[in-house]
Amino acid sequence: MKKRVVDHALLDNAKANKKDEFYTQLVDIEKEMVYYTKHFKDKIIYCNCDDPEVSNFWKYFYDNFEELGLKELFATYYGDDACFCRYNGKDMIREPLVGNGDFRSEECEEILKQCDIVITNPPFSLFREFVGQIDKNGKDFLVISNINAITYKEIFALIQANKAWLGVGFGRGISGFIVPEDYDLYGTETKVLENGDRIVSPNNCMWLTSLDNDKRHQPINLVKTYKGNEEHYPNYDNYDGINVNKTQDIPADYMGAMGVPITFLNKFDPDQFEIIKFRKGDDEKDLRINGKTPYFRILIKRKLA
Ligand SMILES: C[S@@+](CC[C@H](N)C(=O)[O-])C[C@H]1O[C@@H](n2cnc3c(N)ncnc32)[C@H](O)[C@@H]1O
Repeated sequence: MKKRVVDHALLDNAKANKKDEFYTQLVDIEKEMVYYTKHFKDKIIYCNCDDPEVSNFWKYFYDNFEELGLKELFATYYGDDACFCRYNGKDMIREPLVGNGDFRSEECEEILKQCDIVITNPPFSLFREFVGQIDKNGKDFLVISNINAITYKEIFALIQANKAWLGVGFGRGISGFIVPEDYDLYGTETKVLENGDRIVSPNNCMWLTSLDNDKRHQPINLVKTYKGNEEHYPNYDNYDGINVNKTQDIPADYMGAMGVPITFLNKFDPDQFEIIKFRKGDDEKDLRINGKTPYFRILIKRKLA
């Protein structure tokens, strides 16, 4: 396998964030893909930030091509030697790209148009653009993202419109990323594997997808009650709804609007709740309780059975 060497000049040119050089481990890909195998049959999968020589996304789909019943596998990657790689189960074809493999380039967008599902871990600094392009072209996707992406206006709009939702691996459910050799191993959790791979475990990542999974059809078991505990569920100053600090505290007997933390989305079943709004009250200012603003809240409401 090729060594992960980062061309900093190229990255600086693209104003890329150093955090973009996080490579996904095969174990995390395998763990997530099992929930979607039925979606892959006869499909063209496109990994558009992936060099087949180092990408575990490519490796996973290449190695399991037949078992998954794929139609074709595409990859393009960013760099001086950018290529379009395609595999049909028999032959692997590499065609040089005219440009540098930027997913935003016309030639990469043309390739995107031919595929069914985009599956990768894209550069986080370009995440809005990345998902925006897929949505514009009406393609399915399954991608790794920072949990904070939920708070982006464009991403939240897709979640609210039921065009995107969370995958299964969330937070610590994604074990860590391989970082380049010159990457400083700092922060909470880092390790070096036996094979020399340097791993950083940020625990603030998740999968975002448009592919259905079983998790989003499992309603939350609501065990708390509002009646008799009203003091734990204060009303907002600028919205007709109550504040709930933890997803597990959502009361079973409250049918009005409730503000819940963004991690609620990890448990969101669209048959149980509807999403009303994000973060803002009727005055379009941040939700407030007695003048104080809790951390981002999503306003939700129970759906009537
Ligand atoms: C988070 S890394 C993940 C790499 C690979 N997809 C994986 O999961 O192992 C994101 C990759 O996107 C590349 N990249 C940065 N800007 C890009 C762009 N505009 N178009 C395509 N790829 C880009 C980075 O060089 C980096 O290799």
